[in-house]
Amino acid sequence: MVSATRLATPADDIAEVLVDEGAIETKVRELGARIADDYRGKDLVLVSILKGALPFLADLMRQIPIPLALDFLEVSSYGASTESSGVVRILKDLANPIEGRHVLVVEDILDTGGTLAHVVDHLRSQRPASVRLCTLLDKPARRLVPIEIDYKGFEIPDKFVVGYGLDYAERYRNLPFIGVLKPEVYRSP
Ligand code: IMP
Ligand code: MG
Repeated sequence: MVSATRLATPADDIAEVLVDEGAIETKVRELGARIADDYRGKDLVLVSILKGALPFLADLMRQIPIPLALDFLEVSSYGASTESSGVVRILKDLANPIEGRHVLVVEDILDTGGTLAHVVDHLRSQRPASVRLCTLLDKPARRLVPIEIDYKGFEIPDKFVVGYGLDYAERYRNLPFIGVLKPEVYRSP
């Protein structure tokens, strides 16, 4: 028998949609075209940071119609907090050498900049031909470490967002849009 009780879905916890599916799609297409123009004829490796950048990477790579390779890094995350611990650890390193190759880091969000600064140092030490950054979201109000962004999707206000890969305590990554959580979600255990 089907229960009459409606099951809560992740979308029920969203107070406000900041970037909807259509806007993401348009922006990803635009970024992909620019990246393809800039890297045509070059040995391009997209280095993505697990796990938040996965949906963005999957959509973006299909809008870059030139040969490319993929590799992944996993770095320590916020855990179940909405504030960065300020400590960055590499949990999973690249599978293949990047020496002499053109690396484009694909990231979900640039917040304080601590994570990307650490990642870029780590990558540069392996002597790639170039390292550039592509981030879907940028929260400039929170920046502590100056970082140059080569390909930027959207600037957003200083709010904790979830969806399209971004999580709160590992949830909400599967939402197809980017939204702000209802405050009561943080307060519940
Ligand atoms: P940063 O080192 O402070 O720039 O933080 C970057 C990382 O923190 C991102 O890759 C995300 O995993 C996480 N993060 C920062 N802001 C948010 C947010 O609003 N929602 C979810 N995760 C976030
Ligand atoms: Mg991330």
